[in-house]
Amino acid sequence: MNVPFYGHTRQYHSIKNEIDANISRVLESGQYVMGPMLKQFEAELAAYTGSKHAIGVGNGTDAISLTMMALGLKPGDEVITHANTFFATAEAIWMAGCKAVLVDCDETTRCIDPARVAAAITPRTKALVPVHLYGQCAPMRALRRLADQHHLFVIEDNAQAIDACGDDFRIGELSDAVTTSFIIQKNLGTFGDGGAVYTDDAQIDAGVRKLRNHGSTQRDHHSFGFNSRLDDIHAGILSAKLKHITEWSELRRKWASRYDAGLSGVDSIVLPHQRPGYRHVYHLYEIETRASADRDALLAYLNGKGIDAKTHYSIPIHKQAGYPWGKDAEIRGPLANAEKNSASCISLPMFPELTADEVDYVIEAITSWRK
Ligand SMILES: Cc1ncc(COP(=O)(O)O)c(C=O)c1O
Repeated sequence: MNVPFYGHTRQYHSIKNEIDANISRVLESGQYVMGPMLKQFEAELAAYTGSKHAIGVGNGTDAISLTMMALGLKPGDEVITHANTFFATAEAIWMAGCKAVLVDCDETTRCIDPARVAAAITPRTKALVPVHLYGQCAPMRALRRLADQHHLFVIEDNAQAIDACGDDFRIGELSDAVTTSFIIQKNLGTFGDGGAVYTDDAQIDAGVRKLRNHGSTQRDHHSFGFNSRLDDIHAGILSAKLKHITEWSELRRKWASRYDAGLSGVDSIVLPHQRPGYRHVYHLYEIETRASADRDALLAYLNGKGIDAKTHYSIPIHKQAGYPWGKDAEIRGPLANAEKNSASCISLPMFPELTADEVDYVIEAITSWRK
């Protein structure tokens, strides 16, 4: 059996009529950029997330950097994130001209560790960018407390966890703004690139709206900005998909439970940890080999059995070749947990349209490894 890592076409086929109808509506409207479908999707996203404003942008990386620019962050301002996020989180900090301060993640969820954040704050620190890694919220209450003590902005990088929540908070409740990515493989993904910012802050809303469109909100009037808009075709695809996001999250959670049950007795690996009361939406079902030295062997074994397992992310930001490319960056504190995560992580196939047979085949492969 072959088990794919992604189910893009399966998902398309499952709601083909809804997606095709929206694409056709956009094509027939004659308005493809900043048109009515974008407006409609922004209203739907704001309503879904419980935010006052949602702004579609070109991708999830720009969503972060444009938010920082809208907040007025500038060169020399320190922005704290963690070393084992996707590269784009740090990249966006550099795009906004700020200094990326990398701290460690915690030992169990691999989300940012508030104790490491507390130790890394200086008078130059201006913002925190927690990432809801793999589909589970970062510990936002502790981060909010730090932000209040030190007067910091908080931008949630929610590229991986739409529809997740914490034990007593929802995404967006404890921050200045939330950013997300709609790239193909995300839990809410289009057939290409896309992203959004959502916020209750009118200044961020106005700033990002202007920055995404060549610094313009009125024809022929410009200030410095970028071309980073969410095209109407993508907005239409996302509008159709947004209606299914909760049902798809439930399927991801069902497959995660099946993996949990089937793999709980395998001593050589550690399973994902869901914080009590949190709703993890398993953008990725990330296991770790107990011994880092086992990772490549298990990964090769699974690939050899037709299982398209991958790694997220096997090289942390500070170990990328050439780091930091002349950009302003600093590591604060040891990064032992992030490095262990990178050395031992394996992502198992995880998407809503998996079948029980496919999940069981993966479980069977892992349980029979080295037997
Ligand atoms: C945590 C995280 N942040 C930012 C991004 C950047 O999003 P994009 O690829 O849409 O620019 C991604 C995904 O790609 C991501 O996983």
